[in-house]
Amino acid sequence: MSGDCQDKVALVTGGASGIGRASALALAREGAAVMVADLDHDGCETTARLIHNAGGTAAVHGVNVAEEDSVERLVRETVNTFGRLDLAFNNAGIGGAMGKTADYPSEDWHRVLAVNLTGVWYCMKHEIRHMLELGGGAIVNTASIAGLIGMSGAPAYVAAKHGVIGLTKNAALEYAKQNIRVNAVCPGGVRTGMTESADKAIPGFLDKLARLEPMGRVAEPEEIASAVVWLLSGGASFMTGHALAVDGGYVAR
Ligand SMILES: NC(=O)c1ccc[n+]([C@@H]2O[C@H](COP(=O)([O-])OP(=O)(O)OC[C@H]3O[C@@H](n4cnc5c(N)ncnc54)[C@H](O)[C@@H]3O)[C@@H](O)[C@H]2O)c1
Repeated sequence: MSGDCQDKVALVTGGASGIGRASALALAREGAAVMVADLDHDGCETTARLIHNAGGTAAVHGVNVAEEDSVERLVRETVNTFGRLDLAFNNAGIGGAMGKTADYPSEDWHRVLAVNLTGVWYCMKHEIRHMLELGGGAIVNTASIAGLIGMSGAPAYVAAKHGVIGLTKNAALEYAKQNIRVNAVCPGGVRTGMTESADKAIPGFLDKLARLEPMGRVAEPEEIASAVVWLLSGGASFMTGHALAVDGGYVAR
């Protein structure tokens, strides 16, 4: 394996499925040793096996990003396993319940914020501590087009993803002089575990998502992964604090 991430160590949360799995595979293809982390341990093992079969380097670690202790252990384990941490893709997330603001269940609000927003902050907090010791690094957080515009019926998800972009910009400013770049990726509709389970719950969900996209289709996870790898690579060396829409033109309207 050789490429843009040669001799780098990358950590990917949500690595058991969808965008996280595709990104872990793409980072490994570019030469990174990848720590694949997720709540879903079996899914992590599958991602790691796919990386090993392709000749790459990977290890797995179970994590609940909504718990700070769990995230701290993950970052420590990554450094213990591979000796350093250069690149992080903070991507684990959940869709949460649908419902308008006045009807939205408080329990779902807290769960979505805990995973999708606080989880990203916990990850950055512990990753950045190691990157400062190392003298630099690059981070990408997964936001969404729901971090750029409102989406009726998803108040917690939209608030969390807008928050991810705020956290990203803030950390980018704080650590710009210490050689740590922090960006966000904002996918449009992507065919993953998340949207496929929504399609099971609401038949026709994926077709409707595709019709809303200017390109008339949803993305495959690999189309998001290639942007993530680029943002983490030296090719994006002057880019920080940016929220990159990879959305088939969704927010261009
Ligand atoms: N699929 C889309 O259309 C779309 C669009 C925009 C943004 N996103 C975002 O992309 C990211 C990845 O989602 P995906 O679409 O690949 O879905 P996915 O369901 O395939 O993958 C999400 C992964 O996150 C893991 N996860 C969930 N909660 C966790 C927790 N508390 N701790 C650790 N891992 C946890 C899940 O086990 C799963 O493997 C999410 O942040 C999601 O909000 C997805």
